[in-house]
Amino acid sequence: MEIGETNRGGHLVWGGCDCVELAARYGTPLYVMDQDVMVARMRRYLESGRAAYAGLNVAYAGKAFVCGSLVQLVNREGLGLDVVSGGELQLALSAGMPAERILFHGNNKSPDELSFGLEAGVGRFVVDNAVEMERLSRLAAVSRSTARVQVRVTPGISPHTHRAVQTGQVDSKFGFPITGGVALAAVQRALALPGLKLMGLHSHIGSQISDLAPFRAAARAAARLAWEAWQKTGFLAPEINLGGGWAADYVPGAAGVASLEMYLAALVSAFKLAWRRHGTPGVSLGLSDRCGGQPGAATRRYAWPSLFIEPGRSIVAEAGITLYTVGATKAVSGHDPYVLVDGGMADNPRPLLYGSKYHAVLANRILEQPAGMFSLAGKACESGDVLVRGLALPAPRPGDVIAVFTTGAYNHAMSSNYNRLPRPAVVFVTGGQARLTVRRETYDDLLRCDVVAGSGFSAENETAAPTPRLHVAAARDPGSG
Ligand SMILES: Cc1ncc(COP(=O)(O)O)c(C=O)c1O
Repeated sequence: MEIGETNRGGHLVWGGCDCVELAARYGTPLYVMDQDVMVARMRRYLESGRAAYAGLNVAYAGKAFVCGSLVQLVNREGLGLDVVSGGELQLALSAGMPAERILFHGNNKSPDELSFGLEAGVGRFVVDNAVEMERLSRLAAVSRSTARVQVRVTPGISPHTHRAVQTGQVDSKFGFPITGGVALAAVQRALALPGLKLMGLHSHIGSQISDLAPFRAAARAAARLAWEAWQKTGFLAPEINLGGGWAADYVPGAAGVASLEMYLAALVSAFKLAWRRHGTPGVSLGLSDRCGGQPGAATRRYAWPSLFIEPGRSIVAEAGITLYTVGATKAVSGHDPYVLVDGGMADNPRPLLYGSKYHAVLANRILEQPAGMFSLAGKACESGDVLVRGLALPAPRPGDVIAVFTTGAYNHAMSSNYNRLPRPAVVFVTGGQARLTVRRETYDDLLRCDVVAGSGFSAENETAAPTPRLHVAAARDPGSG
């Protein structure tokens, strides 16, 4: 995990910036993202990934953390972008992401979201279910466009991670199950439907996975299904998307045994082995390879597909910290005293949702020795709003600045206004410079959608009209009557 540096004043330094100064300048709670760490991860994914497999596409999964400035970095670094809603699509387009490098995910995209994606010309729709596939086909036909699709399949793999972030297990709500031939039937249907151009298969088994075995199993399952589809339909998938899911390190000493490179190598080698085993010589889509292991075998050409991966967490999690100000401390007989901070579950729901562990320090007193163990509690009206338990700290005082590490993923993205708390600002730091990338919400922002009798809000505004969106006009689902 990234733990930053310490300056001579005993302050935590993040991206070259003094965290105490950042807290004073921008207020707290504050998300601080080290731009260099994020960019380095993106490059590492591209470089190490392409060293393992030349035809690899890396799409950043925006659900982990997204804002316009991050979209610009993703675009500049040459990654694709995975979006999961009309809102994420709107943000991506407004920040200049080329539509053809966007993959549109989601297990229940609305007709309006599908139309938005079609009109914007997103690169791929990752189709989750039969209703969506038919709906997308109708919408594409009506608008005389073609939707390029990857069919999301469920391999029936349960990786060792929190149940809530498993997505490829047998009872998953995502995708078409491979078992029982459901995924194969979906491939056949996608080939038959007008308005769709089937590009390949997609599978994603979950998040925060540090074990290599389930990734290998998923890669094998995708290769096998592609082979079965080829056998049955003659369609050889030009694209295989193996999703994201590689873990981040949240607490010191908890680093998994495998590196990002080992993960990429495991994924790619399992895939290549399985693809060769079910090899489809004679169709050349790209790379060629030698058929190893067969004495005297001639060079065979394999139809290697483009591989896609969609990392989110492992690109942004460790780049981020959250700064809080201590408001008060409270002794509890027989238990660790509480340190009460000015944020909590509204800006980081993960401890409450998944029992996630975090590490934190007093950012203004890094060099002081711990005085005991403390519980870092938030300010929300929930007893469960405790960010870290059993945290060794120098005795905290009101006004101290706390830094919680590894909050770059699924924090800002999952934040809420619970208790009407305004969402914190986000700053990007690099080389000692900080820039505001998302401003702090104000109380006025919190009132923006509130409709009060006599406010002048007309009945017309109360219809279920689609949310206005960028570039494209509202479209109706032709199948919805
Ligand atoms: C389809 C899909 N792709 C990619 C991701 C990104 O996963 P992670 O942030 O764990 O890399 C997710 C998140 O679970 C996902 O649902």
